Order: sequence, then C-alpha cells, then structure tokens
Amino acid sequence: MKAAILGYGTVGSGVYEILTKNEAVIAAKAGEAVEVKYVLDLRDFPGDPVEKVLVHDYEIIAADPEIAIVIEVMGGVKPAYEFVKRALLAGKNVCTSNKELVAKHGAELLAIAKEQKVNFYFEASVGGGIPIIRPLQECLTADVYEEISGILNGTTNYILTRMYNEGADFDGVLKEAQACGYAERNPAADIEGHDAGRKIAILASLAEGKKVAFEDVTVEGITAISSTDIQYAKALGAKIKLIASAKWENGSLFMMVAPKLITAANPLYSIDDVVNAVKVRGNMLGDVMFSGRGAGKLPTASAVVSDVVAAAKHAKENTGFFWSEEVRRPESTDTMVNRFLVRVDADKKAKAEAVFGAGKEVSIGLADEFAFVTEPMQESVFAAKAAELGELRGRIRAELV
Ligand code: HSE
Repeated sequence: MKAAILGYGTVGSGVYEILTKNEAVIAAKAGEAVEVKYVLDLRDFPGDPVEKVLVHDYEIIAADPEIAIVIEVMGGVKPAYEFVKRALLAGKNVCTSNKELVAKHGAELLAIAKEQKVNFYFEASVGGGIPIIRPLQECLTADVYEEISGILNGTTNYILTRMYNEGADFDGVLKEAQACGYAERNPAADIEGHDAGRKIAILASLAEGKKVAFEDVTVEGITAISSTDIQYAKALGAKIKLIASAKWENGSLFMMVAPKLITAANPLYSIDDVVNAVKVRGNMLGDVMFSGRGAGKLPTASAVVSDVVAAAKHAKENTGFFWSEEVRRPESTDTMVNRFLVRVDADKKAKAEAVFGAGKEVSIGLADEFAFVTEPMQESVFAAKAAELGELRGRIRAELV
C-alpha cells in the first residue's frame, strides 16, 4: 500500500521515521506493507533520506492512483482543507493530526469519506499520543457522557509545570516548549487556549454525534498567570492547570477552557510537563482517565501511524463515525458555578468583603495586596460583583476541597 505524507515538519518527520523504523511490525499489523511514495513539502532537505521521495507539488500526489493513504500533517486550514477534501473525493483514505482542520471541517470530511467508502481518521488531533478518539468511538459506546474534561495542551502544561517547580519565567519556558516541538507554529494558539478549545470541541462533537463549534466554546488562556498566582496556588495546596471541559447537566451542554486551581483531590493535579490527560465520565461506567505525552514529534506521529494501520486494514470500507453535520450549541457559561481566587489592592479589603462576603482569606505575605477565595457562585454573579469592586489584580477559578 502506498502512502503520501503532506508536510515534513515536526510530526511529518516523526511519521516518516516510524513508518521506516517500524516497517515490519506495521506491515504485520496492517496486513500489508505501507510504503511512503511521496513526502510533500515546499522546503528542500539536503542529505536527509526523505530527499528520494520529496516532492514540492501536491498535483503529483493527486494524480497518482497508487496513493491509497494521504497523511496530512501540515497543520492549519489552508491549504490542508483543500488537499484533504480532494484526496477523499478521489477515493483516498486520509489520516491527520490537524485539530484546526478537524474542529472546523470534521463533520463534512467524515461525510465525504463515508460517501467515498474510505476513511478520515484523526486520532492524533487530540491528546497527541494518547488514544482517545478511538476509545470514545469504539469502546465507551454503552454510556451517556456526563463529563469530558482534561489537560489538552502540552505546551501550556509544560509552561505551568516549570513555573510551579522552578519559578521559571513564562517567555523563557515558552521558547523551550517551541524548541521541543510542542508549540504550534503560532504559539498564541497554545497560550490563548484556542488549541485546547479546538480539542474539547472535537471530543464534545464525538460525544454528541453532532457538530460542536470551537467558536461556541468559552476560552481563556494562561497569559494572565503570573509567578504571584503560582505562589497563591502553593499557599492553597493547589496547582494551576489549563482545564478544558464539556459537561452535560439535565440535557444542557456547558463548555469552557480556562486556568483553574485544583488540588490533589483531582487526578489532573499530578499531570505535569508535556503530559495530557482526558477524564471521561459515563453514566454507567463512572470515571476513566487516559493520559500520556500530549505533544511532540514521536508521540503525535505514533497516533498518526496507528490511523495509517487502521486505514490500511479498512482501505475500501468506511468504518463509520458518530459525528453528523447537525449543530449542537453549548449553553452560555453564565450559569456555571465556580469559586474564584480574587486578588485586589490591600486598600480594597473592606469593599471586597462587603461585595463578596467574608470568603476565605489567603496570604503570601504581600503587604499591598488582599486575596481571598469566594464561595461558589454563578459566573454571571461573579462578573457583576467583580465589576462592582472595580479593578482586580487577578482572578482564577478555583476547585478547592
Ligand atoms: N501545540 C500542541 C500542544 C501540540 O502543545 O498540545 C499537540 O496538539
């Protein structure tokens, strides 16, 4: 079976490496050998073994009827969407790690794949190397989902962990995450929470069987988190994690990505560095958690190649996905209930207590600052009280038990 890889960046070079190094075991599992006939990239790679299969023009791949599997690891929507759609329409299987593409066009591309009796697989689009798409599709099918939540971005978890463990500086650690191949080409997608937002939108879509748009997810990143916030986390026996969640309550769906203070009572507390974790709660099963390396060359490529094996096994039959083009809108997050760590100037203490009630005071020994954790309250109630109080030094949602 012949395959083409679109993109020879971090993930693409990992896919090429795995398909070459693990050729024999992959052939045994796929039922036949998978040969990389082309790698598409605009750049040249002098001296790299990929040179012998490198092409610069997608039309060569599109025009080759021997190509049965297209592996899209370019990232971004343009031109990935056009290339993937054309490949599917031409009866080729597609495997991708591209969460932006899947979140935006997943339902449409799955419908085309079904019509063409091929497959559109995207295991690597959420959680890097963690198997989560296939488990949701094929294993946890007896349950009604009550909650899917987790740490879905490796870059931000790496940054927050280093800030917590070593007091490292945000910008410096972000550069390291980029050097490790964790961050997106534009790392704003990581640190502003958009990458995690796209991933939770994909998981919620698979849970619902309908299209949950990334644009409908309330998203907050970690750019406002400072070393002072980390000190408060320590004083509270907590860590700050970027938590993505989809929760179903009485038929309503609530979705949010935001930094949160969590304690060891939450299993996500111990998920550090580039590791991601996804907690799934089913109405019959209870809780299960999947964890592993959520970003980086080989873990992500491993998930892509697992899709290549599945595509090779089912090259001429569509294996089906529970994800239609019907839209499912989450509710407004106004009624979600959270506690908050609030930091204000010390001279606002009396006003803060008048507006919020006593709360639970927390100190890290700063004379000019007053900080407290509120009682649980609805997001809209918090927003109104915060507006009444005036300028805050900071506020972070808190799950403290
Ligand atoms: N930039 C992403 C992350 C890559 O840091 O999680 C994996 O999707």
